[in-house]
Amino acid sequence: MADIYATQRIPGRCFDMLSDEGHKLEVHTSDEILSTVQIIKEARDPHVLLCTLSNQITSEVMDSKPSLIMIANYAVGYNNIDVDSATARNILVTNTPGALTEATADLAFALLLAAARRIPEGDRFCREGNFHGWLPELLSGKELHGATIGIVGAGRIGAAMGRRAKGFGMKILYYNRSRKPILEKELGANRTELKELFAESDFISVHLPGTPETTGIIDRDLLFSAKEDCVFVNTGRGFLVDEQALAECLIDGPIRAAGLDVFEDEPDINADILKLDNVALAPHTGSATETARSKWGEVAAANIISFLKGDTPPNPVNSEVLQSL
Ligand code: GLV
Repeated sequence: MADIYATQRIPGRCFDMLSDEGHKLEVHTSDEILSTVQIIKEARDPHVLLCTLSNQITSEVMDSKPSLIMIANYAVGYNNIDVDSATARNILVTNTPGALTEATADLAFALLLAAARRIPEGDRFCREGNFHGWLPELLSGKELHGATIGIVGAGRIGAAMGRRAKGFGMKILYYNRSRKPILEKELGANRTELKELFAESDFISVHLPGTPETTGIIDRDLLFSAKEDCVFVNTGRGFLVDEQALAECLIDGPIRAAGLDVFEDEPDINADILKLDNVALAPHTGSATETARSKWGEVAAANIISFLKGDTPPNPVNSEVLQSL
């Protein structure tokens, strides 16, 4: 039996699964997002910390909890956790991959359509009483069929985005560290370098993981080298992109519109981006379907339960820790 501290309520069966195993659960129940200092204060030395991507789990948090043996992240990305420090302290980190693939690709595609077809603008136009009749050029957008989409990061979510794009009759380019022969065969996708992808794509969708190597990878030069009239979508991580340069590129550069679910300095959003009509925004809700968020909870619980039983959990991030146990 272990003590588990959850930094947020989690939908679905997660907490029941943990209690059914006899573990003792303490949950921070309000919607307030706990800061690092609050976690240090409020989580009373649990064996397991069940946290979300909004919580920064630093070495100070780890050092304040001598009993901590596991950090179970309720997210696929784990850039909110200092994994090296966890490994150095023999603390296992797990995540919840897979469960969000289709939901996130759906939102990326929704933002792509919203930006291309100016849906937020049309919505505001109607509500503000400006619709006085059909006009040939009223809120004309950009057509997807026959256009080229460049997928930046062809992991699970990027591939799911590619399948959607193929359904809409788009040609597909992708940038990925390794070749993806399955995507090439299944979708007719062609692998390119980033520069070529930006130069040739009518639509660009970013699906890279947030790591030290990918931080800032989509810089000012790349953004301004995009094909004229391109639509840009990011559902990966905000800090992959130079957000100020993106704002300037949307005002005075080749990018005509953007769909953004993630931001460089979340939850703050660049003030210039907020002023633009040609941007469709979402508050990091890429994976926010009831199905996906409940499934994440089950995956997080399965990781905790199996590790506490002495088994290898399904999704270790720093599996070195398991070898050293
Ligand atoms: C969502 O953004 C995740 O990383 O799980």
